[in-house]
Amino acid sequence: MKFSHSNTAERTSEATFIDVHCHCLPGLDDGPPDVPAALTLCRALAADRIATVVATPHQLGRYDGRYDAKAIRQAVAQLNELLAGARIPLKVLPGADIRIDERIEELVRSDEIVTVADGGRYLLLELPHEVFIDPEMLLARLAEGGLCGVITHPERHTFLAERPQYVRRWVSYRPCLQITAGSFLGGFGRRSQEAAWAFLKEPLPLAIATDAHDTAGRAPCMSQAYQLISRHVGRDEADILCVENPRRLVTGESLVMLNLEADRWTGR
Ligand SMILES: [Fe+2]
Repeated sequence: MKFSHSNTAERTSEATFIDVHCHCLPGLDDGPPDVPAALTLCRALAADRIATVVATPHQLGRYDGRYDAKAIRQAVAQLNELLAGARIPLKVLPGADIRIDERIEELVRSDEIVTVADGGRYLLLELPHEVFIDPEMLLARLAEGGLCGVITHPERHTFLAERPQYVRRWVSYRPCLQITAGSFLGGFGRRSQEAAWAFLKEPLPLAIATDAHDTAGRAPCMSQAYQLISRHVGRDEADILCVENPRRLVTGESLVMLNLEADRWTGR
């Protein structure tokens, strides 16, 4: 690879991350079933150098009506207390992984579903896995109301993974593409791995998150993804993807574009 930083290793050791997509609340969705499993996952997140995690249990879709925003906030407060008691250095913020649905704007207004870190600006949007439903109209309506969609793991969606350039249709609404850390490492198969790298060239803001559910098949691997991206694309770019844009999603600030120059990009 021709583009690399000589001091990547020493600078990498300084990086700490914010994870904006993680199923770490006990007993709510398909994340940890109980408190011990949640604490095990949180220890793994801290060991992965994640200092802050946005707890994003599924809302709508097959979890429709199971728990509301208030229940998510309560579960987050309880988990933070447990973490302090167990001396696990991790801060948890509320959020949700929201299956796209025509009621979303109304449900944000009525405080049924949770924006990223309760910041009122960014909303994780999960497309159905089986079929492709273009979220363009939803993104447009959200943008009119001052909300910005974060499309979760497009690289794991069959339709988008095969057509990464499709996302250019959404450029005027500036949605964020959230790519899964494990996809860069091949954890979701070759097609998702190739698509993860391909999305880095698309003209939309990007962020990387773990979407961790456990410490087995869906374990956090942010540090490894960060190192790999630093090596292949550049340390500054890895910082935007794994540190700066996740931070901005939490604070509600506008996101930074990668803006990769073709001649610097060694690609995959
Ligand atoms: Fe998720």
